[in-house]
Amino acid sequence: MQIYDSRLCGHSRQVILICRRGETFITDFISAIPAITIRTTHNDPELDQKLAWFLQQPGCVWQTTPSGHESLRPVLNITRRGVFLYEGEDNLHFHPNMALLRLMNILKGESDRYLQATGLKPGDSLLDLTLGLGGDALVGAWAVGARGRVIGVELSPVISALVKDGLQVLAAATLPQAGNPAKKEAWEALARAAGRIEVIWADHYTYLCRQPSDSVDVIFFDPMFRSTREKSASIKPLHSWSDHRSLRREVIQEARRVARRSLVLKERKGSSEFSRLGFRIMPGGRYSQVDYGLISV
Ligand SMILES: C[S@@+](CC[C@H](N)C(=O)[O-])C[C@H]1O[C@@H](n2cnc3c(N)ncnc32)[C@H](O)[C@@H]1O
Repeated sequence: MQIYDSRLCGHSRQVILICRRGETFITDFISAIPAITIRTTHNDPELDQKLAWFLQQPGCVWQTTPSGHESLRPVLNITRRGVFLYEGEDNLHFHPNMALLRLMNILKGESDRYLQATGLKPGDSLLDLTLGLGGDALVGAWAVGARGRVIGVELSPVISALVKDGLQVLAAATLPQAGNPAKKEAWEALARAAGRIEVIWADHYTYLCRQPSDSVDVIFFDPMFRSTREKSASIKPLHSWSDHRSLRREVIQEARRVARRSLVLKERKGSSEFSRLGFRIMPGGRYSQVDYGLISV
């Protein structure tokens, strides 16, 4: 059995501990810091290959570590059905279902507030600086089309690795042959969109500082809600692994420099973040819990 541990930079979840298939365990030397065990669930070369891929993802420095004590740490299960990060009852995984539903509605001719706010069109470039599970980026990647470009930046190494893997799988997926034609069309569009998203593990401020001025059309922010009221069953696992700090003013300042056209912020309805950061709230969404704010540059 090989066991590794890893220190993840820039995030409260600082350590990943990793082993090959089967056993959980791990050392006590970092017991104060939540750790993850990674394992494959079957003896399968493809899963082993995926494990090796996860080992190479940025944000982690792997070291072999001596076998330690049994532990019930969170576990990243690499299975034949996908990759799942379990923590107690919660389970975080990449799932494009919400984006699929949105796309089906868009293809039916319904409006989408994110698309209205971003004004994305074919050939545009989009920088999503709070990628999360990539739902908005997928809709954006559909809108910019084959000539467009989408970069998603995510601070959490484990989320960025999960989403990068999920997008790759989606882009290469064998899509359902039969069934609802509208759903099939949306699946195909989503798969093509997935292949257009480049995932980058980084802090968005650091990333922005390295970008040339006027280099992307639209920059999008969807920071995690700080309030625990928003922790629905679907949000809770992401909440647990993501960074919740509010956006810093210097991030907006740099984003203004890098964007050619606009900055868009998605926030809770009534949030003071819009005025604090200088965004004008877009009309609409009377019954929605969120609003979109715009800065035209
Ligand atoms: C609410 S989620 C975004 C959800 C996303 N729009 C979607 O459709 O799945 C916010 C994400 O931004 C990430 N984040 C927070 N601060 C960040 C930073 N400084 N740099 C990059 N990502 C950050 C969080 O870790 C979290 O995953």
